[in-house]
Amino acid sequence: MKYAHVNGPLPGPKGKALLREWHEYEADVVGFQAPVVWESARGCIVTDVDGNTYIDWTSGVLVTNVGHCHPYLVEKTCAATGQLLNNYECANVQRIEAARRLVQALPNHLDKCFFLSTGSEATEAAGRLMKRRTGKFEIIGFAGAFHGRTSSAASMGGLAGPKRGYGPELPGAIRVPFPNPYRDPYGWCDGGPEFKSYFDYMESVIQANSTGSLAGVIVEPYQGAAGFIFPPKGWLKRLEQWVRANGLLLTLDEVQSSYGRTGRMWAMEHENLQPDIVTIGKAIGCGVPVSAVAATSDVFSCLQKGEMSSTLGGNPVASAAVSAVLDIFQREDLVRKSAAMGAYLKERLQQIAQTCPYLGDVRGMGMVMGIEFVKAKVARIDEQADGDLRLRIERMEGDGSVDEPVHDLVVLSVGMQPGTDPRSFVGVDLDGDGFIKPADPKLDATRTSVPGIFASGTAISPKDIVDSVVEASAAAAKVEAYLAATAGARPQRARPLISVSELGPQQLATVGAIEDAHHGQ
Ligand SMILES: Cc1ncc(COP(=O)(O)O)c(C=O)c1O
Repeated sequence: MKYAHVNGPLPGPKGKALLREWHEYEADVVGFQAPVVWESARGCIVTDVDGNTYIDWTSGVLVTNVGHCHPYLVEKTCAATGQLLNNYECANVQRIEAARRLVQALPNHLDKCFFLSTGSEATEAAGRLMKRRTGKFEIIGFAGAFHGRTSSAASMGGLAGPKRGYGPELPGAIRVPFPNPYRDPYGWCDGGPEFKSYFDYMESVIQANSTGSLAGVIVEPYQGAAGFIFPPKGWLKRLEQWVRANGLLLTLDEVQSSYGRTGRMWAMEHENLQPDIVTIGKAIGCGVPVSAVAATSDVFSCLQKGEMSSTLGGNPVASAAVSAVLDIFQREDLVRKSAAMGAYLKERLQQIAQTCPYLGDVRGMGMVMGIEFVKAKVARIDEQADGDLRLRIERMEGDGSVDEPVHDLVVLSVGMQPGTDPRSFVGVDLDGDGFIKPADPKLDATRTSVPGIFASGTAISPKDIVDSVVEASAAAAKVEAYLAATAGARPQRARPLISVSELGPQQLATVGAIEDAHHGQ
């Protein structure tokens, strides 16, 4: 891989010293990450303090849709910084422009927005709007959903991780299952466009839990954190109809699915959804902290002056980023490119899946694709019944939630600028960083994943991605065997293996080098 260069064990000497210093002062509470200290990044390439370069396979975790430090974004935010850094709750030129630009970029019916700073904050605002507008307090969410880590966002979500150990959830959170076409033991994905068995079951859960104060529904267009699960076609539209028929409000969480990620500017465009409220985060600022909640004027009309506010919401620098990112999307035609590359990728990946015994499922659209590895495709059902599926069913029947993804999942989360830059990248992810969880409990104990593939950045060659998937698929068996053979020798809950690696023949060598680095610590 030409663009990733690692000289020696990781972390390098500077990185090692800095990492030690880091947690002398800042609590060591973030997830397992690669043991490197980032210094700079351009496009999809990250450089650490020791001069090693890596490919950011996560697009800054679905944030840097225009690439790291896009020069135009840097220019516009620097100019704004020099002019005005903060003004609490007041108008500023950048904020006014950003609001106009964002509303103009949204589907017509969403004619108002409000700026905040994080996705979780946008979820909180959406929850408050649903309650305030209806005067009711129950919110229906989905098992496996992730809407953020603040208390009510976690309560509306369906992952136990952000909630466990924190006492009772927010009253009024009702969770129903999310249909997963690849793992569908109850046939909930059948019978579209009505999806009768699903909606019958959903209604029975609601009936058993609601106190009669239903306000609304919050849903992601696809569930990222649960394993990049895309519901069956037409299900979201049917959900919207159900919401309307029941006089509720619909919030669509587009924090990660927007800004071209799925091949449309907004994922809601795929099925012409008309949610009452949309939450927006991540790529709206492509790295500059900003988020927004957008809704109809009718929904916002329930709020009195002073009811929605945030110290940094509408910050001039963040607002300048909102407009600059929208400029870049237009100028570089990123949405169209995302759709075109996504279509090509999916077709080729599906071809590969036909012959690869480990590639169980290829799902997604645009520049977000999950590729689920299974141990043996033909025995998939047995494997599931024996392991992760049983776990999921138990959990769903228990508290209605799934904890975290429990399968071997690979996510392609790539940028959108093919052909403008020779850099191309794809790699095998070995770090089990939250998106990837092995079904094999032996591997789970070490949080080490069997190989997955992450691709990311602003300039990719689809051919390279596809070639790399072919190579990685072939290498999967080898790496799995390697990991299984060394499982006992590796420390329990080992620090993650580095999240960047090289493909093909060098792959195992890289794994070995990283292992050595860990043992040497
Ligand atoms: C769908 C979705 N909603 C909400 C959030 C929360 O956003 P933040 O981490 O900015 O609070 C995330 C973050 O990953 C997300 O993926």
